[in-house]
Parts: sequence; C-alpha cells; structure tokens
Amino acid sequence: MTPFKQFQDSTIERVETALKHHLPASHIEPKRLHEAMHYSTLNGGKRVRAMLVYATGYLLDVPQTTLDNIACAIELIHAYSLIHDDLPSMDDDDLRRGKPSCHKAFDEATAILAGDALLTLAFNVLAKTDCAAEQRINCIKLLSQASGSRGMVGGQAIDLANEGKSISIAEVENMHLHKTGALICSCITLVACLKFDPTDNQYRQLKHYAECIGLAFQVQDDILDETSSTEALGKTQGKDKQAEKSTYPSILGLRASKQLTNDLYNEAISSLSPFDQRTDYLKSIAQFTISRIS
Ligand code: IPE
Ligand code: IPE
Ligand code: MG
Ligand code: MG
Ligand code: MG
Repeated sequence: MTPFKQFQDSTIERVETALKHHLPASHIEPKRLHEAMHYSTLNGGKRVRAMLVYATGYLLDVPQTTLDNIACAIELIHAYSLIHDDLPSMDDDDLRRGKPSCHKAFDEATAILAGDALLTLAFNVLAKTDCAAEQRINCIKLLSQASGSRGMVGGQAIDLANEGKSISIAEVENMHLHKTGALICSCITLVACLKFDPTDNQYRQLKHYAECIGLAFQVQDDILDETSSTEALGKTQGKDKQAEKSTYPSILGLRASKQLTNDLYNEAISSLSPFDQRTDYLKSIAQFTISRIS
C-alpha cells in the first residue's frame, strides 16, 4: 500500500468516527430526521475535504484532535450542500454516492431539514474545536464566509441562475470558485490560521494552493459528468448537459479543460515551495484531484 493510500484510508476512518460521534443517534427523536442525517453523511464519499484538513495539519504540526472537529464540520457542510444540490428545485438528481438521494430515500421536506440540521451541527462541532477561543472564533468566521452567500451558497445561486444561458469562461470560473472552491479553500485556511497570520507569505501560498485545487476539483467534476458513467460516479452522468449548465468542457471542450486541470495542478505544487518538507500528502491530493475517476 502506498503512503498516500494509507493516509486516505486512515483519514476516512478517522473522520467517519468523528462524524458518528457528533451526529445524534438515529433512535433519538425526531428519528426520521436523524436517520436522514446519518444516511447522507455516512454514505461513502471520497472525504477529499477531510484529507486536505489532515494533510495541512500534518504539514503545520497541528494536533489530530484539533483537526477532527475542523474536518468533521467541513464534511457536515459538504453533506448538507449535496442534499440540497440534489433537490428537485436545484439539480433534481435521484442518485448520490451510489444510492437514492436523500429526498428520494426519505422525502423532500426531510431532505431540506436534514440539510439545515447538518449545517447547524457543523458550527456546533466547530465551536468545540480544541484550540484557543480566539482561534475558534476565527475558524467560525472563515467557515461561515466560505459556506454562505459570499461562498458556496452564492455559487449555487449563480449556477442555477445561469442554467440555459451562455456565459463567459470568466463567469464559469467565478461560479466554480464560489460553489466548490470556497469550501475546499476553507479546509486549508481553517488549519493555516491556527499557525499563521493571513498576511504571512506561507498562509498566502497555502491559500493559493487551495484555490488552484478547488477550481481544478470542479473542472474535473465537469469533465467526469461528460466522460464517466453513472455507475462509476455514483451520481447521474450527463446531468450538466441535460440541465444546460455552463461548464468548462461545454465552453472550452474536453482537451482544453483537461489541460487546465494540469496547469492548475502545476500551479498548486509551485505554491508549496515555501515549505521544504511534509508536503507529500498535499501534493498527492493535488494529483488525486485531477486524476480521480469518480
Ligand atoms: C461533489 O463533491 C460536489 C462537488 C463539489 C463537485 P465530491 O466529489 O467531493 O463528493 P463526495 O463527497 O466524494 O461524494
Ligand atoms: C455542486 O456542483 C457543488 C455543490 C456545492 C454541492 P455539482 O452540482 O456539479 O455537483 P454534483 O455533480 O451534483 O456532485
Ligand atoms: Mg449543482
Ligand atoms: Mg449537482
Ligand atoms: Mg457536477
């Protein structure tokens, strides 16, 4: 087993243990809501965001117990964003992580509420992070900004508003940086802010690494929507075209989109140059981001 595969497996195990600990048990009332929260959080997922948290923590020597809450909070927000993204009023997707989407397995109202509750729980978990009070407040500020109307939710609004329209590549980039890049970026900044000031060169370079990875992640998602299969993806292939979404491949074509992911990979790797060791996991995640097949 490669060291990265070992890191991947141990991250999945660690963050899922933390998620199980923080999610209210399914037998607690309201049972259906709690079941839906479990269903949509502990249902696989690549845990890329958690990997980024632990890899940045490894680089900066942050205790794993501190990282657990940060990784958990971000994965909870991610799970909520997927539940809402799949709703009939948004992407109307019946399949997620190889199983019926939350609103299919339960019902629409339960899916909306499960998303709401996961978002709220994320900030409860983050508020309990094992670090100085001032740092916790800083983390809460950063994650709320990344998830809200100036971040992920804003990006989702842009995505929906642009369905059926032809927009420029700069507008697609802006949409992707918000809907996907912002939360991915927070995986690095929430950890980096424990060690650096935002004006420090190391903080800025790590943030730039994160921005490159965040954009590359969504470009690869767009590519896979065109080229992969429903079986491999665990979500319905070809949905972007069907919904007339503007994506990188729809505007630039597949070749140029693939080239862009390679360019972003190289830029991400260059951004790690201020660090002379312990960057191996971050480098492997960058490679995984652009070469993943699901
Ligand atoms: C899917 O994210 C939604 C996007 C932001 C592209 P992931 O591809 O990380 O989904 P999971 O967590 O592995 O299911
Ligand atoms: C979703 O982008 C980004 C989120 C904030 C959830 P997509 O709509 O392309 O994600 P998938 O393809 O459904 O996973
Ligand atoms: Mg969407
Ligand atoms: Mg979608
Ligand atoms: Mg997609």
